Amino acid sequence: MNPTGYPELDALLPRLDAIATLDRDGLEAERIAVLGRKQGALTATMKALATLPPEERKRFGAESNRVKAAFEEAFAAREAALVTDVPTYRSTDLTMPGRGRWIGALHPVTLVLEEMVAIFRELGFAVAVGPEVETEWYNFGALNFPADHPAMDMHDTLYLTQGPGEKVLMRTHTSPVQIRVMQSGPPPYRVVVPGMVYRNDAWDASHAPAFLQLEGLAIDEGIGFIDLKATLSHFARRFFGPRTKVRLRPSYFPFTEPSAELDVECRICYGSGCPACKQTGWMELLGCGMVHPNVLTNCGIDAERYTGWAFGMGPGRTAQQRYGIPDIRLLYGGDMRFLRQLAGREGRP
Ligand code: PHE
Repeated sequence: MNPTGYPELDALLPRLDAIATLDRDGLEAERIAVLGRKQGALTATMKALATLPPEERKRFGAESNRVKAAFEEAFAAREAALVTDVPTYRSTDLTMPGRGRWIGALHPVTLVLEEMVAIFRELGFAVAVGPEVETEWYNFGALNFPADHPAMDMHDTLYLTQGPGEKVLMRTHTSPVQIRVMQSGPPPYRVVVPGMVYRNDAWDASHAPAFLQLEGLAIDEGIGFIDLKATLSHFARRFFGPRTKVRLRPSYFPFTEPSAELDVECRICYGSGCPACKQTGWMELLGCGMVHPNVLTNCGIDAERYTGWAFGMGPGRTAQQRYGIPDIRLLYGGDMRFLRQLAGREGRP
């Protein structure tokens, strides 16, 4: 609006432009502040009308009515704008599908582990667990590691105590749970043992310093190596498919004699050789063997009467083989962009 030439009126004009920015409450307050009958700024100015000489009164009256009309119009326009804003705000389409909420899911290695455990359950194995913090005796001594044997170098880990007294460490394998199971009551035993283990290993494509293992133990009268081979071959075929080829290679563990490693035909190239199996056509699945008589004796079991076998495998490695994952850090590194692609059914919130 153009200036009126009257300073009292022109002083009000900047407030006219500001009306378009007011919210509902601000608008009502401004209406009272300008047009209010008792205290309104414009009303007060117009009251001065009576004191003016007749000539002046007419011109001033016309100008102040123009200003008043402009304010009324601006208030009405803002009021209308605020009313039409409401449907915009309410225009959320309630028929739109909701946004999915990620409540977490089971880790791919957990899924593989559960599948493995289910296969052993079918064969009559129970699940046992043990502590992740172990004494040296459970982790090494009872398992027939001679003191200071070089095999312990492969099992370097975090020691939690130092100095005299029994050393306490993060377990380097799930095999100590074999001992705990055998101490829990007389044979027979058929158990599988899932759990985390810790090693001073490099963090590279094929090693992780903390990883999952699945241990197995079967002890009874008359159990021989043929039972080991039959059970583990059955497992490999149930897990990887009915025509999966397996082979046993001699190996060494202090707590089994004889010891072996079980390979499965490479699940990526089916034996013809590829980078994943380092061109051998085979992938190492697990370590196993007949439980050493010294281990049975250490647990107070009559090694003349009872025999049995044990195995240990890494479900992380197995998940790599199953899905053709080139780097184990993808599984244990916690990168959700990767893990979500393999995550299975949703977990509970
Ligand atoms: N504990 C062994 C390891 O972690 C695996 C194993 C378990 C081998 C049981 C034989 C029998 O390397």
